[in-house]
Amino acid sequence: MDLLFLASEVAPWSKTGGLGDVAGALPRALAARGHRVVVATPRYGSIDPAGRGLRRVDLTLHARGERAGAYVADGPAPVYFIEHERLFGHRRGLYGEHGRDYPDNAARFAFFTRAALDLPAALGFSPRVVHLNDWQTALGAWLVRHEKQELAWARGARTVLTIHNLAYQGVFGKHEVPAVGLPWEVFRYEAMEFYDQLNFMKAGLVFADALTTVSPTYAREILTPESGNGLDPQLRHRARDLHGILNGIDVREWDPAADPHLPARFSRDDLSGKAACKEALQRELRLPVRPGVPLVGMVGRLAEQKGLDLVAAALPDLLRQDVQVAVLGSGRHDYEELFRRVAREQPDRLAAHVGFDEGLAHRIEAGADVFLMPSRFEPCGLNQMYSLRYGTVPVVRAVGGLEDTVEDYDGFRSGTGFKFREYQPRALLTAVRRALDLYRDRRAWAGLQARGMAQDFSWDRSAQTYERLFESLAAR
Ligand code: ADP
Ligand code: GLC
Repeated sequence: MDLLFLASEVAPWSKTGGLGDVAGALPRALAARGHRVVVATPRYGSIDPAGRGLRRVDLTLHARGERAGAYVADGPAPVYFIEHERLFGHRRGLYGEHGRDYPDNAARFAFFTRAALDLPAALGFSPRVVHLNDWQTALGAWLVRHEKQELAWARGARTVLTIHNLAYQGVFGKHEVPAVGLPWEVFRYEAMEFYDQLNFMKAGLVFADALTTVSPTYAREILTPESGNGLDPQLRHRARDLHGILNGIDVREWDPAADPHLPARFSRDDLSGKAACKEALQRELRLPVRPGVPLVGMVGRLAEQKGLDLVAAALPDLLRQDVQVAVLGSGRHDYEELFRRVAREQPDRLAAHVGFDEGLAHRIEAGADVFLMPSRFEPCGLNQMYSLRYGTVPVVRAVGGLEDTVEDYDGFRSGTGFKFREYQPRALLTAVRRALDLYRDRRAWAGLQARGMAQDFSWDRSAQTYERLFESLAAR
């Protein structure tokens, strides 16, 4: 089947979080199953076409009177990078800079979505399904349905919107309605109006032929007022069209037996390289080099979502034990400052690297013994799956994809990690203590690691589920 995939970030070229990883891997997994997949994404200023080996393509895309060119990264699922100097090329960030969103994000992503939907005509390609991802491209669901004139190829096409995170919806002042080329009739409760503002995500929830989200548990959670971010009524209305499809991970990119970012390699059969990774990580982060002390890792956006207020509250108690903590992340200034300060005060206990560092993310996954992910909510989460594959035992809050991918240790011979439910520092501490206690039991710990490393989170299974969904839509 021919598929068009739209995403505002695609690893390894652009990434702020898991969406980039998914957009980098899922199209390739679908191509490997025999589909023709074309990916479209913006060419941000941070992507240097020459340095990244992109090829200029001779085509012009139209988006409401504006024109755009494109570069392509050839491959089994070619990625088209849509050019617009003012809206994307000029910018260093993807969505903003210095903790602030760009003020013209509505215009930027409406433009990108329209230009991307002009790709099929320019390429002579007729996708049966257009796969949209998050608010940045959700408007595509309305465009494919209503702009029949402009999008002749789209007549028989169906749209799927994948919700990677309902907390980000693309909500803008209503003056954007005409500014991004929408008719006022979309500005009503049954369409894109949301508390007197324009909501891009809602366009997708209302107009896409099918909705998916990235884990079965999150698919249930977002139907409730507690987790629906104000859009649960729309989601409940479409509950029959909403599917929870667990993300996979790129098992080539995240393979402890072949990872180029690591100082040593290891596998389920031979974990000796993991000890070398731990030692090297302690040196890199200037923590005391001690093989026997449990090392707890954290990697991620320092955002409300990730449960950092729990971590902040639990940290003094946690650091009173004989542990080391390694943190890599960036985001909210207060959390960045917190970790920097604790690292200064207790340099033999906690090391913090504030920033985005792909290599260090891999080295923490490999060198840590325990990976902490106490999220307030988590649509899927990828880091806990990377941890399992790297023999690093996850301690997670039992929500969203964390609930679906980590099995709580039963005190005997089953389970892959430690889970807690209550959003309380004490619950987090109890789960970490259970992990640290078991860490001293070398045999039980090795069993836990081995079970985690044996899990299969490769993309193929999820790609097959998407494929079945696409086929059922195309047959409608
Ligand atoms: P989310 O998409 O909510 O940020 P995920 O767990 O799905 O969470 O994915 C996060 C991805 O981004 C992972 O690949 C993770 O390694 C990466 N990542 C997050 N923060 C950093 C950072 N500071 N440095 C390097 N990689 C990071
Ligand atoms: C979002 C979610 C995360 C998920 C990722 C990829 O950013 O926060 O849980 O893994 O998207 O789907």
